[in-house]
Amino acid sequence: MKGLILAGGLGSRLRPITYTSAKQLVPVANKPILFYGIEAMAGAGIKEIGIVVGDTRADIEAAVGDGSRWNVEVTYLPQDQPLGLAHCVLIARDFLGDDDFVMYLGDNLLEQDLRRFVDGFEAARRRAATPSLDDQAPQPPSAQILLARVPDPHRFGVAELDGDRVVRLVEKPSDPPSDLALVGVYLFDPHIHDAVRAIEPSARGELEITDAIQWLIDHGHRVLHTVLEGWWIDTGKLTPLLDANRLVLDTIEPRIAGAVDAGSRVEGRVVIEEGAEIVRSTVRGPAVIGARTRIVDSFVGPYTSIDRDCEIVHSELDHSVVLERSRIEGITRLVDSLVGRDVELVRGDAKPRATRVMLGDHSRLHLP
Ligand code: TTP
Repeated sequence: MKGLILAGGLGSRLRPITYTSAKQLVPVANKPILFYGIEAMAGAGIKEIGIVVGDTRADIEAAVGDGSRWNVEVTYLPQDQPLGLAHCVLIARDFLGDDDFVMYLGDNLLEQDLRRFVDGFEAARRRAATPSLDDQAPQPPSAQILLARVPDPHRFGVAELDGDRVVRLVEKPSDPPSDLALVGVYLFDPHIHDAVRAIEPSARGELEITDAIQWLIDHGHRVLHTVLEGWWIDTGKLTPLLDANRLVLDTIEPRIAGAVDAGSRVEGRVVIEEGAEIVRSTVRGPAVIGARTRIVDSFVGPYTSIDRDCEIVHSELDHSVVLERSRIEGITRLVDSLVGRDVELVRGDAKPRATRVMLGDHSRLHLP
């Protein structure tokens, strides 16, 4: 069993952050989203992982390296243009060979580990290969999809089921056949290669993985499903990214490796990394403060992740994510925000009061 992680794409819904970096490298609880996917694969016993990369290949390679940190072997698979999830399978043909594989969208996060999902597929395939004497040989499954119950299925790819079989997949249906949305994790056997070669681009010009799975169904292949336990988040937009940060922070192990002075308070589930300094400030968890970050005369409230080498002075913030080397000064209070790398966010006290900005394209600044 191999792994295929999709980390190309445009990331247009997370601009301007994605003008300068990959959305899969935006940190959740100070760890790049992509690393959660790699860890999930390593945890399921997968040793060979192909990562599909686009324009942000250099950043992703610099962050992930050869995979030895997770005891896996990573192969980079360049995709010239984001032509769809099924196109990623098409370009990964040589890497995948004739192995079964797990495909994982590099901007998705799920609570449940992959091990049971992968083991379930392999067990179903083994059962089909070794039928007992009085059993009719069951057909081996060619794919297994992961589904989650959602309140708004019309926004997703939705599955229609007949027992344990998937009979139809529909993209963003106006009249959904169920409340079961497709999660960004799929298991395939090599028949998927015939499917991705056979389908045509959709109306939006992409080779859709839902069309490829529908092709498998229409050609008599057995497609199984598992309904997800626990949460699942497609982090490609601001609000879900903050939600993911909240859910992950709720599970971190508190640890204080940095310095907290006598005038400061650290409450609840908090990680303070090596070299960080908390001076005359309160950090109320769940929160993480990255290495060498300084928090001075400030309040850092729940569900906040501040990455390394930042400086927060005379400010209050909560439910926010701040990336490395940014400086926030004199801001009360910052909420529900994502601040990129090397950002300066400072309120001066010069009069007359004026706001001075240099904001990148697609920046969003909401002033009271
Ligand atoms: P999406 O979030 O569906 O697409 P996107 O990254 O282009 O984002 P946006 O809509 O905001 O512009 O992609 C899901 C994951 O798959 C994501 O990690 C990017 C990756 N991907 C590829 O690697 N190649 C592709 O051709 C596409 C469409 C996505």
